Amino acid sequence: MTDLMEKIVSLAKRRGFVYPACEIYGGFANSYSYGPYGTELRNNIKQLWWRTFVHHREDIVGLDGPILLHPKLWEASGHTTGFNDALVDCKACQKRFRADHLVEEATGQDLEGKLDEMSTALTKIKCPNCGKIDWTQAREFNMMFKTEMNNVSDEEIAEVYLRPETAGAIFVEYKNVLDSMRVKIPFGIAQIGKAFRNEIVAGNFIFRLREFEQMEIEYFISPDTKWEPLFDEWLTKQEEFVLALGADKKDLRHYEHPDDKRSHYSQKTVDIEYKFPFGFKELFGLAHRGDFDLTAHSKASGEKLEYFDQENNKRYVPHVLEPTFGVERSLLVALVAAYHEEEVKGETRVVMKFPKAIAPIQVAILPLSKKEELSSVARGIFDDLKTSLICEYDETQSIGKRYRRQDEIGTPYCVTVDFDSLEDKAVTVRDRDSMEQERVKIEELDGYLVGRYK
Ligand code: GAP
Repeated sequence: MTDLMEKIVSLAKRRGFVYPACEIYGGFANSYSYGPYGTELRNNIKQLWWRTFVHHREDIVGLDGPILLHPKLWEASGHTTGFNDALVDCKACQKRFRADHLVEEATGQDLEGKLDEMSTALTKIKCPNCGKIDWTQAREFNMMFKTEMNNVSDEEIAEVYLRPETAGAIFVEYKNVLDSMRVKIPFGIAQIGKAFRNEIVAGNFIFRLREFEQMEIEYFISPDTKWEPLFDEWLTKQEEFVLALGADKKDLRHYEHPDDKRSHYSQKTVDIEYKFPFGFKELFGLAHRGDFDLTAHSKASGEKLEYFDQENNKRYVPHVLEPTFGVERSLLVALVAAYHEEEVKGETRVVMKFPKAIAPIQVAILPLSKKEELSSVARGIFDDLKTSLICEYDETQSIGKRYRRQDEIGTPYCVTVDFDSLEDKAVTVRDRDSMEQERVKIEELDGYLVGRYK
């Protein structure tokens, strides 16, 4: 792990953002729990996304579909046969790897989908774990998690899958949305929710997980639309969202999938890659899925999944552009971009410079001492502010330590109530980034702070 990643992982645990899950049982296969501040940060990221793409747009509506969906959906979408990765086992140490990743790391060759060539290349590659060369053949591994469900009608047990992407739940409700809402093409359906993939190798902290959350939009367009400008527009919108997480534009780049690497459903796919501390990696994706999904579900279900264009008296199966975003990767970008170390009076100040829209705590209220005369004023301020801003009240430890703690959780403003406050009815507001302090009248505080979050 890089030095920076180590610092971020350590801060994330120490300050209640991300914990390795089930540590009391020795941890559990790259799964993580989000602590109090991590949960706030996640929620703020999801809210920012929902506001940006659903509330602020007239052409996109929301949906919340189930995780367990009809198994026929995954047959129709091609996931039961095609949603595979290549795995290989080391016979000497029994460790399992993604075959294509091993080959790419060792030789720079991208052999995704070419099992025989991968097996040949592996005959010259040492196991990263034990150093031996003794591989099984590379073979396909389906990444969907299977589970069983009681089939109520005939008491049989049905095999079902945890959804590997949220998109499926959107396509099967296309007709319901069309029939119940006054949507007109072009329009989108957006969803935030869990997805599950039995990744062969998870890792890089919360970058690659088996259980994660996606924020996806299926944007339905006419087959006659010139889609290229719209595709570029979506890429820009996705980039703007990354910048809103605090990222720097210079840390973003695009990767267009070549023909032989694209998913089975896609006509064009571009990944937005971010420069994580472990290198440029896929953050979000944008795919032109054509009419693949609606046509496949229409054929498999027998339902017509068309659109009637009244103006032109024309029926067609819409095409779809799919901007897709990962919640955990967004959270990781927010953590990486926010992390700063600064020298202040000979000491290192660690400060998480989250953009205000996603900071887990917006205002901390800190009475200088626990004395009743100060805490009663500070509690009154907390009660006033908590209905409009996410606030935290903290009266433990020295004020210096409390500032450091708020810096590390990225609180943009600290409000200090001191003994002068009893006389001048004012408090000190400290700005996280500049560390400048300003005296503000208590009666003007709500307007002062709320104004800064508009
Ligand atoms: N519906 C299209 C789709 O699922 P994808 O590129 O496989 O496309 C979309 O996934 C996004 O989901 C990725 O760009 C990434 O942000 C996130 N994602 C995918 N696999 C992930 C994993 N194993 N762990 C964390 N996030 C993941």
